[in-house]
Amino acid sequence: MRIRVFASPDDAALYVATAMEQVLRYEPNPVFGLATGGSVVPLYHRLVSLTSNEERWLDATTINLDEYVGLASDHPQSYARFMEERLFSRIQKRPGRIFIPDGMAANLQEECSRYDIILHEHRIDLQLLGIGVNGHIGFNEPDSLLQSRTHVVELKEETIQSNARFFNSSDEVPRRAITMGMQSILQSKRIVLVAFGQEKARAIADTVSGTVRTEVPASVLQLHQDVTVVLDSASASLLEHDWQAQETMS
Ligand code: F6R
Repeated sequence: MRIRVFASPDDAALYVATAMEQVLRYEPNPVFGLATGGSVVPLYHRLVSLTSNEERWLDATTINLDEYVGLASDHPQSYARFMEERLFSRIQKRPGRIFIPDGMAANLQEECSRYDIILHEHRIDLQLLGIGVNGHIGFNEPDSLLQSRTHVVELKEETIQSNARFFNSSDEVPRRAITMGMQSILQSKRIVLVAFGQEKARAIADTVSGTVRTEVPASVLQLHQDVTVVLDSASASLLEHDWQAQETMS
């Protein structure tokens, strides 16, 4: 794993957006695995600034990690709406293909299978990840076992409480989500995980040091050969000194 620590989330966002711009420019048919949530807001802002006029988006495919079960795509807190507002409506040429799990599907198992076929047909060039306070990636929550493929997950209480900041109250946070599985994430050519703020410091320390364990799903990323963990000084604050001293870029 490479660790990059930046002075601010905005500096970090520029670094990640530039990496995504390079993929957009130079991959023949770029495939992006996309995340939602507070951590990636500055990143999409920067990406829009860098690529809003980029015709290459027409050749791109985007595959989102997850969606809440029971929220329609036009619900203000659905991840489909997040993507529309933060990225897709702000670039002149929409990506040629956009995939997000359908949280309103009548048959959720069929929806998971449909999504796995899409993932099978597209190798992700760059997978963007946030991380939950409990170490989840996508909505692969800590457990004694992790699922390899797309599945319906019961959200953990800490995830519900953390995401309540986007809703009027924690009662409104959906209890279930559809998420890409761990194997699909690990099959990406390159993974960039972003985390900002003190509340992510424990999860980040557990992800990059110590043993690979299902109780910290993001620690499984240690098994991948091309992962960059992009932090601010607060989220990096529990890392051992050597990591920061060697890898700090700004
Ligand atoms: C969302 C997702 C989640 C979030 C994580 C962090 O698509 O996959 O894993 O990345 O919950 O969310 P924020 O950035 O809101 O703290």
